[in-house]
Amino acid sequence: MFTNIDITPLSNAETPFYYYDLSLLQETLKKCANAANLYNFHVHYAMKANFNQRVLEKIQAIGFGADCVSGGEVSKALEVGFDKGKIVFAGVGKSDKEINGALDNDIFCFNVESVQELEVINELAGLKGKRARVAIRINPNVDAYTHHNITTGLDENKFGVNSWDLPACAETLKNSANLEFIGIHFHIGSQITNLDVYKNLCVRVNEFAVWFEERGFTVKVLNVGGGLGIDYHNPDHQIPDFEAYFKIFNDFLEKRPNQEVHFELGRALVGQCSSLISKVLYVKNGKKKNFIILDAGMTELMRPALYQAYHKIQNISKLTDLNEVKYDVVGPICESTDCFGKEVELPETFRGDLIALRSTGAYGEVMASHYNLRDEIRAVYS
Ligand code: LLP
Repeated sequence: MFTNIDITPLSNAETPFYYYDLSLLQETLKKCANAANLYNFHVHYAMKANFNQRVLEKIQAIGFGADCVSGGEVSKALEVGFDKGKIVFAGVGKSDKEINGALDNDIFCFNVESVQELEVINELAGLKGKRARVAIRINPNVDAYTHHNITTGLDENKFGVNSWDLPACAETLKNSANLEFIGIHFHIGSQITNLDVYKNLCVRVNEFAVWFEERGFTVKVLNVGGGLGIDYHNPDHQIPDFEAYFKIFNDFLEKRPNQEVHFELGRALVGQCSSLISKVLYVKNGKKKNFIILDAGMTELMRPALYQAYHKIQNISKLTDLNEVKYDVVGPICESTDCFGKEVELPETFRGDLIALRSTGAYGEVMASHYNLRDEIRAVYS
């Protein structure tokens, strides 16, 4: 077999659909949990990567917390049973309604991204007679060496508090009776495959922790965000090297005895557990190009159109991956960017063949849209 996708149960399902390998998800979660437990690290799952109910249930069951970026995600995390004491709420633009909802549910912590947001949370918590736990999301100006659209930790990005605003931040924290400062938070980008980037992040985290300590704050929580990448070129049974990843933080963070280290992993946990399965509608053999036109498009999987992202494409109706013809693999949407891959080498392909777009567990189903009034995308589970 050239792929670990078993086509038998899939051949009669209506396409397109996301196909979930829940046992691979389980294996991935276990490996991550075991590696984190070695150092007593805390993992919050970044729900934005995938909020499919079955996926969330598995992640909740393993005991991870949830990293949410909207009121909707906070509600969903609570509904699925995530412990409210393990829910963090990040986001550069939390609305008053979302802040109030999170306060009512006594979540673990707000990751706060500006001085003004601190003032608003203080005021809203005060109106409820509560104290909100907050961590300051700091923009550390560390390059993640990833696609520029998914880089978040540089001075030019909108995320977090820049270093020059930290004195104002400390001042506001000291004057805010309804805020409890618990620590500092970072997230420098996504799909990070060069682990040295995280060493650079650790150096900055250490510096900022000292900065707060020198001003009389106790930094209980070091939240280093997520971003660990996956291998899109090798989708079969590729579980990220969680051991190596966590070891970097253990080795390079100057952790105080009572300090906790928190992570917000998304893609690394769910990226490989799903493929988008689509049927070939038409094959057009042009003079310069051969086109495969699928029944899935950018409305079902946005990443290639949005970030020129690579997803391995396989014709799973064939028994071999003896690739003999080059095709541009495109969707049915009326947009030229609705293209999953150019000059993709595949076996000779015909109408009705099933095509798998691999590694779509993260930022796949969740980013689907109704553009062109397309049907809701379905999910099938192994
Ligand atoms: N924490 C924060 C504050 C975040 O903004 C993100 C992702 C994560 C954690 C989780 O990052 P991960 O471990 O999944 O890399 N739609 C893009 C990715 C956007 C990531 C947004 N933030 C894509 O399809 O590549």
